[in-house]
Amino acid sequence: METTRFQFANNTPLSLSPNFILPEENRPILSEVFSSASIPSIDLNNHDIDDLVSKISQACEKFGFFQIINHGVPKELSQRVLAVVTEFFQLPPEERAQFLTTDHSKRVKVFNYYQKVEGQGKVLMWGETFTHPWHPTEDFTHFLPKNPPQYRAIFTEYAREIGALMDKLLSLMSQGLGLEKDCLKRKIGERPAIYTQANYYPPCPDPELTMGLQAHNDISALVVLLQMEGVSGLQVVIDGKWVAVEPVPDAFVVNIADQIEVLSNGRYKSVLHRAVSNKRLARLSLPMFYAPNNDTVIGPIEDLIDEVHPPMYRNYSYKEYMDEFYRQEGARRRVKEAFQLQH
Ligand code: OGA
Ligand code: NI
Repeated sequence: METTRFQFANNTPLSLSPNFILPEENRPILSEVFSSASIPSIDLNNHDIDDLVSKISQACEKFGFFQIINHGVPKELSQRVLAVVTEFFQLPPEERAQFLTTDHSKRVKVFNYYQKVEGQGKVLMWGETFTHPWHPTEDFTHFLPKNPPQYRAIFTEYAREIGALMDKLLSLMSQGLGLEKDCLKRKIGERPAIYTQANYYPPCPDPELTMGLQAHNDISALVVLLQMEGVSGLQVVIDGKWVAVEPVPDAFVVNIADQIEVLSNGRYKSVLHRAVSNKRLARLSLPMFYAPNNDTVIGPIEDLIDEVHPPMYRNYSYKEYMDEFYRQEGARRRVKEAFQLQH
């Protein structure tokens, strides 16, 4: 990928100045990234439904993350969406600066993640993020940038495919929990909050001093992430160790986020992950999030509660969850712990 054109929208110089440098204890130690484990790859074009359900549900229970192949989304479309989003990040910075904001209520925004460090203040992450809503069937083009000109058409087509894919995943995951096919989708509720978050990580002179995206759990319900081929950066925790999620050609990375962990009463895991930067190459990732709306009440599904499996979380509205998320902004996020019940 051509990388020379990228500049931060907020005009922060693209050099590893002290405001990007993490204190030693918060830095990624890349030599300790474990290379002999990986998340499972699952072939979605498996006509043995019981086998597919069991593979998905084992992956959700053990790893919280898996890759899917033969998922039905045309490869050429995934490549076009990555290309147009890359083009967006390579526009002159003033084109993206119009979307810069720190206002949480803005649904379309460009921003930079940071970590709050005692005695040092905000340390910036080495990346820029663009977020906006999407919808599988309704027209959401008014949320999308006019530039690059193909962005709207490509994203609309992509959203339709990802919507169908998410329905399929939610159905398989519900069956894996022994529930009706439409159970998770129904519990996540009407008018889900669905948004995307394109992350652009320019090459970094020293990836060990900073981080692309600090360790976090996704707070939504379900995530389908597309990453460019040939550049790794996403890492997840497996058995207490950081493990790289190497890009698999024409695959999506799927992960359980907090709301499905709660709905499944802790059976499916929302796992800690992070993105590290790359020394030579820029990297783009495009997670598509599916979350409840603010008024939806989330809690462990009753069929999954019994004497042996008491509720692990209390019921709450998604708004409460979001408030806690913003309260913890810049800290190491432990949102789900705030809703856990002790037994
Ligand atoms: C995220 C995320 C990982 C990546 O945006 O929530 O985890 O690879 N991104 O950029
Ligand atoms: Ni994430």
